Amino acid sequence: MQTMAIIGAQWGDEGKGKITDLLAEKCDLVVRYQGGHNAGHTIWVNGQKTVLHVIPSGVLHPHCLSVIGHGVVLEPENFLNELAKIKGVTNVTPENLKLSSTATVITSYHKLLDAAREAQGPEKIGTTGKGIGPAYEDKVSRRAIKVKDLLDKDTLVRRLSNGYAEKAILFKHLYQIEIPAIEQEVERLYRYGESLKDYVVDTFSLIDDQLSKGKRVLYEGAQGILLDVDYGTYPYVTSSSTAASGIYNGAGIPGKKLEEVIGVAKAYTTRVGEGPFPTELFDDIGALIQKTGNEFGATTGRKRRCGWLDIPLLRYSVKCSQLTSIALTKLDILSSVPELKICYAYEVNGKVVDCAYPGINLYNAKPLYKTFKPFTDDFTSGKPSAELETYISFLQESLGIPVGIYAYGPDRNQIVFRQSYS
Ligand code: IMP
Repeated sequence: MQTMAIIGAQWGDEGKGKITDLLAEKCDLVVRYQGGHNAGHTIWVNGQKTVLHVIPSGVLHPHCLSVIGHGVVLEPENFLNELAKIKGVTNVTPENLKLSSTATVITSYHKLLDAAREAQGPEKIGTTGKGIGPAYEDKVSRRAIKVKDLLDKDTLVRRLSNGYAEKAILFKHLYQIEIPAIEQEVERLYRYGESLKDYVVDTFSLIDDQLSKGKRVLYEGAQGILLDVDYGTYPYVTSSSTAASGIYNGAGIPGKKLEEVIGVAKAYTTRVGEGPFPTELFDDIGALIQKTGNEFGATTGRKRRCGWLDIPLLRYSVKCSQLTSIALTKLDILSSVPELKICYAYEVNGKVVDCAYPGINLYNAKPLYKTFKPFTDDFTSGKPSAELETYISFLQESLGIPVGIYAYGPDRNQIVFRQSYS
């Protein structure tokens, strides 16, 4: 298998970092293709925790080339801080980390605008406040700064001038905020450009070349399919293409199809921010899962909302991204839960619906549950108990694809492969 993708099958935070880190061992390149430092990918190796935001989760494998593709939005200061931290853990150099010259830059005013809109509403999204949406807006309106623009001062001044006056007026009169003077922002970004420049390349031709040499490429998604700007629960989504289609847009795999698309799903469901959540739990079991699962955002520290596993949503994710297998994570958290349920369908206006198609109003969807015997596996034998196998098999049969991996703890080794992915 030459091309593989790892994509969140829910609303993000499914444990993609851990699965990417594991499979990166078998790959030559790991490529991020969308999103920015709104992501928080956590990897534990021998009790040591590493949280990555925009640097690909293959970075702990020195043989692996880490690539930040053109579909990513990059906040230079954050990237450089992340780079400095990771250099204390592994050997990262411009030889093994590459940044697309055409990735979009997140500027100071993107962050300010994100925060101001969230504060003013009226419809709060619950964003991470990192400036992701406003940066993608500028990209689509053709006024964005690209990474390569940071490397030449005249170009930077020219590009930044587009719309700067408009933004200054908007901020002052609508949000009562002064944005930095353009000269100040130019100096700041140009300084960061100097530190970035050794990492900057044309990642499209790099990936194209590597594929033609038969190298194995792993595409690492951020967030989850249900947060995709087109497929997700709009407007409560992020501003990028988190589904498999984002790989074509944000990294480019010319002439190649994805051979394996692994959808990462938690054994239950979580969500941060606003938006519908049919199986959300407001009772003691929800509180138990939240506490035992340590369900706090890796980027913002916000409490995650928790609920049962939702098959109609996962069926939709399988269809959106042509998922070929599932990596099921955090099963250990459910082994402390006395009663288990999976939502197999919804009742919507008196009808039973088994897939969360976009035409369905999820606020109006009543989950229909199947109850499962609890499992109390300690997972060390590598063989699931009959109860756990029943839980996993129900998911496989409902989705029509295998659970190729299941994970039972944060560490790299706390995992069972049911498929080889070679
Ligand atoms: P934004 O991406 O910061 O614009 O936030 C938009 C929505 O996506 C909010 O509901 C966020 O909580 C959610 N979101 C963004 N990034 C992540 C992530 O990495 N994990 C989970 N949710 C996320």
